[in-house]
Amino acid sequence: ETVDISLVINGTAYERSVDARTTVLDLLREELDLTGTKVGCNHGQCGACTVLMNGTRVNSCLLLAAMADGARITTIEGLASGIGELHPMQAAFLEHDGFQCGYCTPGQIVSAIGCVKEGHATSEAEIREYMSGNLCRCGAYKGITEAIIEARD
Ligand code: FES
Repeated sequence: ETVDISLVINGTAYERSVDARTTVLDLLREELDLTGTKVGCNHGQCGACTVLMNGTRVNSCLLLAAMADGARITTIEGLASGIGELHPMQAAFLEHDGFQCGYCTPGQIVSAIGCVKEGHATSEAEIREYMSGNLCRCGAYKGITEAIIEARD
């Protein structure tokens, strides 16, 4: 079964017919070539696939594209205001070494923006709790937390 959807991704409007089982993650990576959003577990456990839907963070591997019909999606590609620019959260991750191999970083940064936007960055403990769904196998958690504190202030 296919479903017709229209959604806005990083400010660009898209209309697509997708299989009803297509996830937003698959739509982004396989159909729209927006490969900045990463695939980790594909089961809602790791956070690598995090995007913002209408400003709220979601695991795009668990979200059916059909359910995102009419939504506004923001991915890592949509954060900076222009070529050669960085979003303040991206700059803070760079400054505080909030990554090592970098695979989880797009999801971490998108989640970090959700953390601040949703008002869950008031303390280090609260940040760590909010960010606990974003796994980093290199263990860059200290830098990630510091980056969020810097970008928050
Ligand atoms: Fe979506 Fe792991 S790939 S949470």
